[in-house]
Amino acid sequence: MKTNISFNRDDFVGVAVAKIPCNKDLSAAIYVKINEKFIKFKEEGDSLSEEKINYFISMNVKELYVFKEKAHLFLETLSQLKKQEIEEKVSLVGESNRNIVEKFIDLREVAYEAFLEENLSNETVDILKAQVLNFIETVKNKNPQADLFAKLSSLNNTVAEHSLNVANLSLLFGMATGQTHLHVLENLYLGALFHDFGKAKIPASILEKPVSYAYEKAMSDHPEAGVELLKKGGLNSKPVLTIVLEHHEQFGGVGYPKGIQGESIYGLSRLVSIANVFDNVCMENRGKSSMYKNAIKVIEYDNGKQFDSTLLPRIIDVLKLGYGGFVRSRSNKELS
Ligand SMILES: [Fe+2]
Ligand SMILES: [Fe+2]
Repeated sequence: MKTNISFNRDDFVGVAVAKIPCNKDLSAAIYVKINEKFIKFKEEGDSLSEEKINYFISMNVKELYVFKEKAHLFLETLSQLKKQEIEEKVSLVGESNRNIVEKFIDLREVAYEAFLEENLSNETVDILKAQVLNFIETVKNKNPQADLFAKLSSLNNTVAEHSLNVANLSLLFGMATGQTHLHVLENLYLGALFHDFGKAKIPASILEKPVSYAYEKAMSDHPEAGVELLKKGGLNSKPVLTIVLEHHEQFGGVGYPKGIQGESIYGLSRLVSIANVFDNVCMENRGKSSMYKNAIKVIEYDNGKQFDSTLLPRIIDVLKLGYGGFVRSRSNKELS
């Protein structure tokens, strides 16, 4: 239950939302600050749902608060959860890929920070770019097994997590279709990571009314809205912005916002559009053992309508190799 009590701000310590995993028990009650008042948002033992994280992203809530005397335990628990997650992922991908896992988890935290900022800052963009380059270099040098990204992927349906899944898939597709240049892969990764940035920032007041003109318009405008937000944050790379703008264009010409077709669509955008649909189908079927197989079938049956048929055979091969045999089941925590 929410209680509205005026506490002194010295009673609280701020904790970055980007550091708090969703669906995990909170080791202290957390508070939000509204008009200089601290309002209890969750009790100790509760957890933050995916919907709440999406809400914080859309409302630019970057920081939550815990009582000062609880802060040490709270931060210690967060650090334990992070270590636990790293060990769980390492047990999936193997000890030899530990550094890939560690770099991905660090990159993920900065990606969440970027999604949670009200105005994307140059500083965050620079840190993110450095983390992305570092991650891509490590992956390239290790040349890991094809199922690495299936094992790193998350089934949590926050917009940031979907974006990271799409970025990893796009990187896999880029490498599989012969992209080797580090900066091309960096642009591909950043474009994929921010493809739904415009959607992430649609205000909750609009999202709450899915049958409305405002909702329809915000959804169909999200590629252009994302481009504008990224430009404001100083992310002006043309390839990155083109990917964001074109991720819903279709090879056959019936996509949006422009309805362009074939090779008029930038090559990297064509890769991201496949990755985006793949992850969306996975999310619709999450929890089912056939999740990845269904998503592969959807991509496979496209027949060149939505996707570039010259890219598809190689991408389907790599999906079957990486995701075809990997069955991802969700823990009760993830399902809650
Ligand atoms: Fe989108
Ligand atoms: Fe998407």
